[in-house]
Amino acid sequence: MLSARLQEAMNEQINKELYSEYIYLSMEAYMRSIDLDGIANFFTVQTQEEHLHAMKIYNFIIDRGGKVVLKKIETPPVDFKSVVDVFEQTLEHEKFITKSINDLMDVAVKENDHAVISFLKWYVDEQVEEEANVTRILSKLKLIGGEGHGLLMIDQDLAARVFTPPPAGSTGAA
Ligand SMILES: [Fe+2]
Ligand SMILES: [Fe+2]
Repeated sequence: MLSARLQEAMNEQINKELYSEYIYLSMEAYMRSIDLDGIANFFTVQTQEEHLHAMKIYNFIIDRGGKVVLKKIETPPVDFKSVVDVFEQTLEHEKFITKSINDLMDVAVKENDHAVISFLKWYVDEQVEEEANVTRILSKLKLIGGEGHGLLMIDQDLAARVFTPPPAGSTGAA
């Protein structure tokens, strides 16, 4: 059985992953409103990945005989100044999630729950990739000044991103 403290912390993480999905859905809407459909597609894939991150924890809690407790999802930001602003907010948010995963790992280590430690390693690695991806896009955006022909090229690049669903029957590693 999961300890009460770990169960609470993992339910809290489900909420943060669903909030991440919500933020990226809002960013997708903004990109569509300014006709950057390729960048919008990048955020569509983000929403799918964040949903998966939430569901992996959801399934894990149930597998461990715990209780899933869904909490209220906050309103995401809805007003954005520019494409660069969106990616700056994205990077900031992913850093916040990285800290949250690290804190969760600290709880698992303190409680000596090896199954949770092993499970969370996937998230630790995933956050390295998330921050690296967003940093790379943000650097390119800053390089081109966030507009013009360069922006259209980035838009085209990000149109190619696809969501890879986890294999059937798994708890959802992507
Ligand atoms: Fe996530
Ligand atoms: Fe993420």
